[in-house]
Amino acid sequence: DLLQEIKRLEDLFTVDTAKLKSITSHFQSELAKGLSKEGGSIPMNPTWCMGFPTGHETGTFLALDMGGTNLRVCEINLPEEKGEFDIIQSKYRMPEELKTGTADELWGYIADCLQQFIEYHHEGEKLDKLPLGFTFSYPATQDFIDHGVLQRWTKGFDIDGVEGKDVVPPFEAALEERGVPIKLTALINDTTGTLIASAYTDSEMRIGCIFGTGCNAAYMEHCGDIPKLEHMKLDPNQEIAINCEWGAFDNEHKILPRTQYDIIIDKDSPRPGQQSFEKMVAGLYLGELFRLVLLDLHEVAHVKIFEGQDVSSLKKPYSLDASFLSDIENDPFENLSETHDRFEKALGIKCTKPELELIRRLAELIGTRSARLSACGVAAICLKKNYKTCHVGADGSVFNKYPHFKARGAQALKEILDWDKGRDGKALGKGHDPVEILPAEDGSGVGAALIAALTLKRVQEGK
Ligand code: BG6
Ligand code: GLC
Repeated sequence: DLLQEIKRLEDLFTVDTAKLKSITSHFQSELAKGLSKEGGSIPMNPTWCMGFPTGHETGTFLALDMGGTNLRVCEINLPEEKGEFDIIQSKYRMPEELKTGTADELWGYIADCLQQFIEYHHEGEKLDKLPLGFTFSYPATQDFIDHGVLQRWTKGFDIDGVEGKDVVPPFEAALEERGVPIKLTALINDTTGTLIASAYTDSEMRIGCIFGTGCNAAYMEHCGDIPKLEHMKLDPNQEIAINCEWGAFDNEHKILPRTQYDIIIDKDSPRPGQQSFEKMVAGLYLGELFRLVLLDLHEVAHVKIFEGQDVSSLKKPYSLDASFLSDIENDPFENLSETHDRFEKALGIKCTKPELELIRRLAELIGTRSARLSACGVAAICLKKNYKTCHVGADGSVFNKYPHFKARGAQALKEILDWDKGRDGKALGKGHDPVEILPAEDGSGVGAALIAALTLKRVQEGK
């Protein structure tokens, strides 16, 4: 019956402490592998963002944020003295068709948005080229900070002719064509922006994370600890931000507890075999996992749910997003009446009481697995860098909006890092965990501007 089915799902989706620890330990060695000359499946991309801001960065910068859901353009004034930032911003919808359209359409659309922004906010002004920090949140190989060869599309993007090439020339060509007065100063990742913006206001920040449509992190590494950069003879003590691209963790399928549903998600995605970790934890996939399980229970399992009902609406891939799950977890009513109404309205399915209970438990299991597995990445960086205490800046829709994500992640960190036992035998103070994941500053606005300012300063100093 359904209770048995719930038990089966619990076994499938629960990641216990021992497993969390073994995943973290493998994660830690994969981070190191990514920095080695041979490389590994986690790219560990050097970003050429060299060190943290000092607080003396000033100037006016544009920031462009191409994350996946929205396109955002900001103009940021960095104050002379550390303090409030002056920001104006506009959001543009990122049309769904653009994600699988042509490269010309993509760059044209982005250039049009920038043009609109400048025409609106600087009408009639004679402008010198404005410096831009472009937050391009996909894996890129960078030899310099103002270039970036797209390694591969992630988060469901699939635009021909961009992978394997520098994204900056076609972007600048689209601006040039329209006569938009902008000069790209820095191409950055959202995680690097998050790290830098958060560190500007909090000196204990060591890691920047995104838990959103995708999942990833950045942190500072000493050049001397990056064997793959040895040939460049950089100052070994100089810090450089590393964009881990940890979504690619365990592409070899050695350790993550993948279910049959995770395997389908991967197989049916535009890039099978890529982003194994991301596909189990990130927002883009949570609703899809949920949909696949429900459909399976209806069609295949011996215990049929939604028996005799028309489930055609449940058959459309990616028709349920993470907010659908959030709402189920947030249903305040004992009898789950909001969930009941939601299923009826959105999907045309009338659920029985036991079905509703299964639905709620399934949402909890998927959301909890996401938070617990995500914590393994954070713990792996802390262990690699030997950070006993630090702050982690986090952004993204899952972190900010998914119910209990923060508490579940914190609980998992506690289990992995053995805080209850007191690491190093030290008694722990009450109230704060040694490693705390906190809401970040606007990394793709402020962070992009700070990195652009740091870059200009380095260029002026001839470094
Ligand atoms: C936004 C940042 O707040 O969060 C983006 O401005 C980032 O740069 C995004 O990519 C991540 O969250 P989501 O949920 O939109 O993928
Ligand atoms: C994906 C992208 C990565 C980004 C993350 C969060 O993993 O590959 O670059 O940081 O999503 O947006």
